[in-house]
Amino acid sequence: MTSATFGQRLFARWYPGFMARVERAGQAQLRRTQLARARGRTLEIGAGNGLSVPHYPDDLPELVLLEPNPAMRDRLTESVGTPTAPVTIVDGDAHALEFPDASFDTVTASLVFCSVRDPALALSEVHRVLKPGGQFLFHEHVRGTGLRGCCQDLLTPLQRRLADGCHANRDFESLLATADFDVETIDHTRMPTSASTIVPLVVGTARRR
Ligand SMILES: C[S@@+](CC[C@H](N)C(=O)[O-])C[C@H]1O[C@@H](n2cnc3c(N)ncnc32)[C@H](O)[C@@H]1O
Repeated sequence: MTSATFGQRLFARWYPGFMARVERAGQAQLRRTQLARARGRTLEIGAGNGLSVPHYPDDLPELVLLEPNPAMRDRLTESVGTPTAPVTIVDGDAHALEFPDASFDTVTASLVFCSVRDPALALSEVHRVLKPGGQFLFHEHVRGTGLRGCCQDLLTPLQRRLADGCHANRDFESLLATADFDVETIDHTRMPTSASTIVPLVVGTARRR
């Protein structure tokens, strides 16, 4: 098993406390509303310290939580408690998911496509592991417009260093539009935080063609 890098350990130290305030300010409600749609065998990629976990329906037959950062995975294990069926916690990489084709009914990602090295490859993996007609529930912070977008471009190199590779300026909606999904819902909303580089959010559901 590989150990966490300095950047991964640093991120796992400050992210849970930072996000706890954002969750209380409204992000938890957003997760609850969206994740209530999860159905069937479900995979969450980049589960972090488990902020989405309490918001899944109780009757999922299986919930697989994938998290590559070992330090964050420790936090995830703490927050889930000893995972028992139907919940499992696994190491893995969204660029090369170790699951067969068409093996999940639902895949979820929250605030993950900002951090992956190759978002198009990660999205193609989400597509591959979903069953035809399966749903992808996403919740991503994205590049804004105008002055905010320019500031996000300028601050992305710093943010990547401080937040384990997180880009402030990814255009997730355009990426999704080029992929083999039907976008069923997409809300343009705001993360309730004063950290202005991560305020613009897209939240929605896409179905695998
Ligand atoms: C900003 S955190 C979001 C954590 C959690 N999803 C949440 O909503 O709080 C980004 C997460 O994506 C994970 N991540 C980064 N690269 C990844 C990859 N290639 N595959 C899967 N997860 C990845 C990070 O380890 C981190 O836990």
